[in-house]
Amino acid sequence: MNNQAFSLAERLIPSTYVQQGLNAKKSRENLIRHFIEHRKWPEEGWDDATIEAFLSDLSQMDSNNFPSNCSVGEREARIVSNIVARRHFRMGHGIGRSGDLEEVQPKAAGSSLMYKLTNSLVLEVIRYMGVKSIAGCFLSPMATGMSLVLCMLTLKQDRPRAKYVLWPRIDQKSSFKSIITAGLEPIVIEMQIIGDELKTDMQRLEAQMAALGESVACVLTTTSCFAPRACDSVDTIAALCSQYNIPHLVNNAYGLQSTRCMHLIQEASRKGRVDAFVQSTDKNFLVPVGGAIIGSFDKNLLDRISKMYPGRASASSVMDVMITLLSLGMAGYKQLIAQRKEMYSYLKEELGKLATRHGERLLDTKGNPISMAMTLQCLSHQHDNKQVTMLGSMLFLRNVSGTRVITTTDSKHIVSHKFEGWGAHNSNYRVPYLTAAAALGMKRSDVDAFIQRLDKALTKVRRRSAPVTPTASLAGSSINGDAGGTGGPGESSTASTSRASSKDSLRK
Ligand SMILES: Cc1ncc(COP(=O)(O)O)c(C=O)c1O
Repeated sequence: MNNQAFSLAERLIPSTYVQQGLNAKKSRENLIRHFIEHRKWPEEGWDDATIEAFLSDLSQMDSNNFPSNCSVGEREARIVSNIVARRHFRMGHGIGRSGDLEEVQPKAAGSSLMYKLTNSLVLEVIRYMGVKSIAGCFLSPMATGMSLVLCMLTLKQDRPRAKYVLWPRIDQKSSFKSIITAGLEPIVIEMQIIGDELKTDMQRLEAQMAALGESVACVLTTTSCFAPRACDSVDTIAALCSQYNIPHLVNNAYGLQSTRCMHLIQEASRKGRVDAFVQSTDKNFLVPVGGAIIGSFDKNLLDRISKMYPGRASASSVMDVMITLLSLGMAGYKQLIAQRKEMYSYLKEELGKLATRHGERLLDTKGNPISMAMTLQCLSHQHDNKQVTMLGSMLFLRNVSGTRVITTTDSKHIVSHKFEGWGAHNSNYRVPYLTAAAALGMKRSDVDAFIQRLDKALTKVRRRSAPVTPTASLAGSSINGDAGGTGGPGESSTASTSRASSKDSLRK
């Protein structure tokens, strides 16, 4: 209703009531006006009614919703199902214009405005989380792997002789496959085992940089990953990339939620070269899978990456991210970030206690701010890791998702590459283990339920796995040979014998 309509309403109901209603409407409109004017992330989150009013305004700006629209083209955002129309707030044109993601679509002023505003919001989040000197970013309508492809294809354009990507190993298929999809050849740099942790082997990496030079399209490093792998030494690698004049792409898949990962990227750009960094929308903003944020310290390169996308794209993840960030406000997001840090400490404490009860221990992985790992030495018998795998199945059947059990002896073929020790980011990791991550949105109740179910499942599988030899020793040991088990609750002598026999597997 416009002002005139409100005045006319005073003929029907008392004017004080009309004014009250008008004021309430104006306060919502002011929030929206302020947001468009300053493109600033609101400190306090908006209520759903304000967000819905805003989306309704935006969708009314798209031609498919014009009351007098007459469409004769082949792509007119016609949506036959009402459910689908409602799911998208009646916006059907997507983002971009044929051949350019960031170009304003004349048929869809509302969707185009939504895209620009969402990119501004996301830029603020990235700056707030620690990458202060970022030049710009955009929401790419594809998940992390494909967004990495877009970046690599752009970097390759500038280096006609480039064939290779130097890739410190991370056992995550999308990351590896993105290199292949970009038509490049991965050169796997095995991680170095230092203590319990897996760190970038700087010597091997530098040797390849020096040897391959111009034929390298980029170094693809990773921040967020499963323990015991640590974040790559992104800052030192950035300095080498400057020295050897090789582009540097950072896979920051779920690192945006960690101020440590973000400061590392900031530091890397100060010390050397970071061409672009990519993070997913689902893991960092708690929305359905579908998008990623591509950020860069070079606006020109960023524009070229965006232009590499060949057509229009779905606006789904754009809308999801905008709704989420407006709904949380800066305060709500800060709270989620603080809660995640708390959950990291809580999970670490509880998993550590559970490990001790079972004669195991947490791996010492200080270089990983999100994921942690606990040894499963007691389930490993003379190269036989069936019990380790069984624990994984038991947890899955008990509705525990996200944890991974790693035998360290699996191998996997991906395209033409064979990875020994698949899952462990290394072919020679010494002990089977289980990982868990304190990621954004995790609650105390998730940790409690996980610990309880893991405790039960581990007790059960240890009982089953205990060898029947009456002479087996009762002594337990952790991988470093330090004292292991305490004989805590649920631990039987047969379980201890299984630990003892697993000692043998260390000698392999
Ligand atoms: C390091 C890393 N890279 C990439 C991805 C995901 O890529 P995508 O979103 O394309 O599946 C993940 C997923 O967790 C990841 O951990």
